[in-house]
Amino acid sequence: MSPVHGPGPLLGRIGAREPGGHAGAAQGDTPTRTQVAIIGAGPAGLLLGQLLLRHGVDNVVLERQTAEHVLGRIRAGLIEQGTVDLLDEAGVGERLHREGLVHDGTQINVDGVRHRIDFKALTGKTVTVYGQTEITRDLMEARAAASGLTVYEAENVTPADFQGERPRVRYRHKGKDKEIECDFVAGCDGFHGICRQSAPAGSVQSYERVYPFGWLGLLCDTPPVSEELIYNRSARGFALCSMRSPSRSRYYVQCSLGDSVEDWPDERFWDELKQRLDPQARADLVTGPSIEKSIAPLRSFVAEPMRFGRMFLAGDAAHIVPPTGAKGLNLAASDVAFLARAFLEFYKENSPAGLDHYSARALARVWKAERFSWWMTTMLHNFDDAGGFDRKVQAAELDYVLGSRAASTSLAENYVGLPY
Ligand code: APR
Ligand code: PHB
Repeated sequence: MSPVHGPGPLLGRIGAREPGGHAGAAQGDTPTRTQVAIIGAGPAGLLLGQLLLRHGVDNVVLERQTAEHVLGRIRAGLIEQGTVDLLDEAGVGERLHREGLVHDGTQINVDGVRHRIDFKALTGKTVTVYGQTEITRDLMEARAAASGLTVYEAENVTPADFQGERPRVRYRHKGKDKEIECDFVAGCDGFHGICRQSAPAGSVQSYERVYPFGWLGLLCDTPPVSEELIYNRSARGFALCSMRSPSRSRYYVQCSLGDSVEDWPDERFWDELKQRLDPQARADLVTGPSIEKSIAPLRSFVAEPMRFGRMFLAGDAAHIVPPTGAKGLNLAASDVAFLARAFLEFYKENSPAGLDHYSARALARVWKAERFSWWMTTMLHNFDDAGGFDRKVQAAELDYVLGSRAASTSLAENYVGLPY
């Protein structure tokens, strides 16, 4: 699918680009007025900003870190077709189509026996392997090329008055206190951000499941062990074989929450990984020095609602999924698709309908992805507190999923991404 230029199918032809522009901004100074103030320059904030820019909706992105810091984060890299389409619509699909790896299926090893889930045959859809860091880089470059304004190293960012008609965001930049007035605030500031915390007391209902283990991830410049991802369930715990390119691999092993990276020298990592693979993968595995190693806790989290007056949350600011279903980035993208469409309806058609339905629409898709990610995590990991009955049910679940076309199709349908 060649990258599309200009307004595309997901956002429809809601009004072509009219000249926007920041009000009250002398050259080089930061503006005092915009239409949408976006907090956070992660994939959610940058993607929203790009889609709005392309449709002539003025926006400013405020980020507390430097651009280098944002780009330095190693995150997942598996995207649904819906996310690919949205990135195309934002005009940042070219490199993804050139360097991304399209996968028709994935593999699941259960105690040494490898099975394949053929997404293409079961759903007609595929997924693409392309690092989140690369997506963030493409979005940053596109924003700069479109003269979109991003204020990096914005300190003490504080959304205010979003329950009223004239929201504003206060922040400190280069030693000066600043304020920007806007129509709307988009809280794309991640799980630890300020926006969800700024919601009126008692107005947030949150739901959480914390898993009793973590994922130790290792990045290395070795050829991947397999052309497709391998999810491994073993008596020693879960492991995942993934990749970033034909010469760069990403591996994960389930580890204890108390572990630190220092407890896992490369040698121990490779030895443990090998013991969790099937014989063919063990024979094919190419090891090498790690270029990045980190431990991530596993958590399922949802905050409801995703709207507080004129402030809207998107991405990790509202929900977290364990990485087993590769849904984190894709959920941020679907939130942004719903939110961008809602803003365009407001500005181009004077209709608040999309904004009024945003929270319900986004949460409906979020909960399905939460369910899928929890299910994959429960089915493929070892739980120390699991009794004999639980273990037997887990084994039967895997046996059913891998032996039934209906059940495999359900897994595939969720994995490639449910419709928006
Ligand atoms: N002020 C300004 N910026 C902030 C603040 C704040 N108070 N708090 C956080 N930020 C910035 C962070 O520095 C980060 O760059 O908001 C950004 C949030 O980005 P992400 O955490 O990447 O969240 P999101 O854009 O929703 O992307 C979700 O990231 O963590 C992965 O698995 C997740 O893939 C998913 C994706
Ligand atoms: C990754 O490539 O980092 C990755 C892929 C699939 C997952 C999680 C992480 O489920």
